[in-house]
Amino acid sequence: MSSSTEFGNPAEIRAASPDEVVTHAYVRDVDLPDGAGTLALITLDNGFDHTKPSTFGPASLLEISDAIDVVAGRAQRGEITAAGVTGKPFIFAVGADLKGVGLIGSWDAARAIGRLGHAVFRRLGELAVPTFAFVNGAAMGGGVEIALHCTYRTISSGVPAVALPECFLGLVPGWGGTYLLPRLIGPSKALKVIVENALSQNRMLRGPQAFELGLADAMFEPADFLEESLRWAARVLTGEVTVERVPAPENSAEDWDAAVAAARFFTDGKLHGAAPAPYRALDLVAAARDRTRDEGFAAEDKALADLIMSDELRAGIYAFDLTQKRARHPAGAPDKALARPVTKVGVVGAGLMAAQIGLLFARQLEVPVVLTDLDQARIDSGVGYVHAEIAKLAGRQRISADQASRLTGLVTGSLSKDEFAGADLVIEAVFEEMTVKHKVFAEVEAVVGPECVLATNTSSLSVSAMASGLAHPERVVGFHFFNPVAVLPLVEVVRGDATDDATLATALAVGKKLKKSCVLVRDAPAFVVNRLLTRFLGEITAAVDEGTPVDVAEHAPDPLGLPMTPFLLLQLVGPAIALHVAETLHAAFPDRFPVSPKLRALVESGQTAVYGPDFTMDPEVVAALSGGDRPSTAEQVRERALAGLAEEIRLMLDEDVVAAPEDIDLCMIMGAGWPFHLGGITPYLDRAGIAEKVTGSRFRPA
Ligand SMILES: NC(=O)c1ccc[n+]([C@@H]2O[C@H](COP(=O)([O-])OP(=O)(O)OC[C@H]3O[C@@H](n4cnc5c(N)ncnc54)[C@H](O)[C@@H]3O)[C@@H](O)[C@H]2O)c1
Repeated sequence: MSSSTEFGNPAEIRAASPDEVVTHAYVRDVDLPDGAGTLALITLDNGFDHTKPSTFGPASLLEISDAIDVVAGRAQRGEITAAGVTGKPFIFAVGADLKGVGLIGSWDAARAIGRLGHAVFRRLGELAVPTFAFVNGAAMGGGVEIALHCTYRTISSGVPAVALPECFLGLVPGWGGTYLLPRLIGPSKALKVIVENALSQNRMLRGPQAFELGLADAMFEPADFLEESLRWAARVLTGEVTVERVPAPENSAEDWDAAVAAARFFTDGKLHGAAPAPYRALDLVAAARDRTRDEGFAAEDKALADLIMSDELRAGIYAFDLTQKRARHPAGAPDKALARPVTKVGVVGAGLMAAQIGLLFARQLEVPVVLTDLDQARIDSGVGYVHAEIAKLAGRQRISADQASRLTGLVTGSLSKDEFAGADLVIEAVFEEMTVKHKVFAEVEAVVGPECVLATNTSSLSVSAMASGLAHPERVVGFHFFNPVAVLPLVEVVRGDATDDATLATALAVGKKLKKSCVLVRDAPAFVVNRLLTRFLGEITAAVDEGTPVDVAEHAPDPLGLPMTPFLLLQLVGPAIALHVAETLHAAFPDRFPVSPKLRALVESGQTAVYGPDFTMDPEVVAALSGGDRPSTAEQVRERALAGLAEEIRLMLDEDVVAAPEDIDLCMIMGAGWPFHLGGITPYLDRAGIAEKVTGSRFRPA
């Protein structure tokens, strides 16, 4: 009889998730070398190729449970000496079926899914024979946890991603992760994976890093990974290899608590208590040292159920879905077939943005890239930056030495724009001044063919105005990257009045090859992200201008858990650029975008840094920003900033700057790091009642 009766009626469990893509669990026997007997190998495979990774919903868990039943029976009868779990090509397993999790309607049903996972996975660690996880490919969430339940683990050095992303999404690794991982590798390293990586834009580990942390006992090359893993397993079984795990240094209660306290400090710094999931994970890890397995798993079940029913999880799943789906298929995109090939790229400017853009084009398109600038020294500095970054990638073994020399050869500099002849796309990232941009495009147009796309990285100038006066204004498009280019995944692709479909299709195809998420936006002042961030900063600086203490304004948004404080944002953007964008927006919308006199004075004084090297605000800057007789409280500042955002978003939607509120959400998530726990910005403003209060209606239906 299937053990699944322990946690409910299998037919009912399967029926609860009718759309689940089921991950099957196939069992086959493998004769181990060295007379080590037979290993029953379970292969997890949802029947699709690697582009649709295997996930675990209720029906999948039941399939795995049935496979374990078969294996358990054979172990009892002495027919096998070991059991193993592995994945389909390139994928081990990527965890819970999030679509299904988002549909769970009650706390009891939420707890049932936690219990089901535990009941199935834990048997792998409780069989009559040792168990091995052979982590051959990407392993996330429940995929990592199923491996943690096994007695031993091997990992392929080619695995691109190992992570417990639950806290990033609004959950905890609640199928054993918070209990087993700290007990395996110690609380510090475990919390690095569970909390720190998850809260750092969902950072992933590669195979060797996971091995280094102790998540696996052995690592083998991808080419003969399974064969070598089985050979190693045989040697473990015959006693030829003994797996010695180094006990965690923090095994005393005090040290364990100190490790948790350090992670809590990190979490507070990031979130200021704004999202519950990482705090639940911290509590679970803190208690894992002294709990029994049953107690640990029961506590995980409860935390998981509470979180599955939380607003933050729904927000996380909404945001995740946008980044997985809408980001890959931009709304309003023209027919892809219109895209023209891009075999050579020109970059005008070799400054901060241009150099990063040149590097990205060379790496992802692998075509010749020519940078130009006003003098040889600037060109040398820009090209030098690109070459140095390529060398760093090779040094970190992210690319081979061969690749590095090929990429280095692709990126050259020239004082003359004549070198752009034959380019299919030229992007400019010169000074943010219309006259300079006009002049540059006119010079480029004289050299390139009539179909060469002319792209601009402008942050705030009108793309239509930039195209005016050219012989072929239809090939001009906005292609707005965010700094740092390698980190922020968004490109706002701006359609000017004259931009034709072929140009737009080419820009979008290039964006996809660059592995960026493109959102199509209308040619409106400062597009989406800069307009909203400037409105937000504008409200904060206006409060400071009126007399709100800098410290109060700086920390007013803390309860939202945004990725950085307003003045740190100002530092990152650069006070001069922020002022410039504010002035551009002030020219377009004087009522809503005042230019802060204090910010202007700061820029005019030549101040470029707001923060000192010790991450506190420069006292001179604080003094320059202080003064005024109408101070607000932190709450008032926060409310005012959020109300400003709601008003601006409503206007942007009315002006058709983007196709739908979802695109605003996507822009803020991908271009400004708007946190997953708030979901998109529009659902947050709806949920908090701000949209209704400020604009009279919600952005999206309830
Ligand atoms: N810095 C950011 O965070 C950021 C983010 C997104 C977009 N942008 C936009 O990117 C563009 C460039 O910004 P940046 O921060 O890289 O500036 P930057 O000052 O670092 O670089 C601009 C470069 O353009 C060169 N240049 C000026 N006129 C030129 C000409 N006629 N021909 C060739 N080269 C010329 C300058 O010498 C300089 O090296 C601007 O439009 C800016 O709004 C900036």
